[in-house]
Amino acid sequence: EQNLRETLPLTGKKIIVTAGGTREPIDPVRFIGNRSSGKMGIAIARAAKRAGADVCLIYGSISVALPKGIRLIHAETTEKMLSAVQEEFPKADALIMAAAVADWRLKKVADQKIKKSMDQANLDLSLVKTPDILKTVSKNKRKDQLVIGFAAETNDLLKNAQRKLKEKGADYIIANNVSTDSFGSDEDKIFILGQGKPVFELPRMKKTKVADKIVNLLQKSLFIR
Ligand code: CTP
Ligand code: CA
Repeated sequence: EQNLRETLPLTGKKIIVTAGGTREPIDPVRFIGNRSSGKMGIAIARAAKRAGADVCLIYGSISVALPKGIRLIHAETTEKMLSAVQEEFPKADALIMAAAVADWRLKKVADQKIKKSMDQANLDLSLVKTPDILKTVSKNKRKDQLVIGFAAETNDLLKNAQRKLKEKGADYIIANNVSTDSFGSDEDKIFILGQGKPVFELPRMKKTKVADKIVNLLQKSLFIR
């Protein structure tokens, strides 16, 4: 058993994967959320574990089953996900940010349920930007650490993904078009963008296969540094 474990490509590597969507509370019963199912991130966590890695999955709101035999940390809000990632990252070799992180939170969360008073037709919510987890972590990472982010786009996929690669400072950005499929789907079509590397296009395939491709990328990148 020991020999078998030692031959796996990611044995001894500690990988953090984020999955699902973060939720920002409005009041005790309501929140702002998104359509992320968590499928992609969970598939990556599973694939990394199969490759022998010590995986930690930090997850928000998901609509699929959690994987077995993987260390799990739940993070409801963006703030909580940032804290969890910052706590785990110093011990890790790589971070894969597959989570759909909420970009905005309420400026002030109501302590009590907001009532729909009869004389009021509108409700204005004031929002403030959440911290960018990927950017924060990429900026402070060690040279021997690898950070992979995603770019979820409905238009100008490669242009927007290139800008994210540059601005966030991640080693790689996995670009996918979220207007055609992605959310909730079992399939995905991605482009891999790396710092100073040509864009690599993959054909549409099952998310489980995409996860294997991302784990391959992880293996190559972690061992040639
Ligand atoms: N991300 C993050 N923290 C945020 C927002 C996004 O870490 N507050 C990460 C996501 O997990 C993903 C990458 O950044 O890996 C890109 O997310 P995306 O929503 O596509 O891009 P944004 O930078 O948030 O820009 P926009 O939503 O305006 O396209
Ligand atoms: Ca966003």
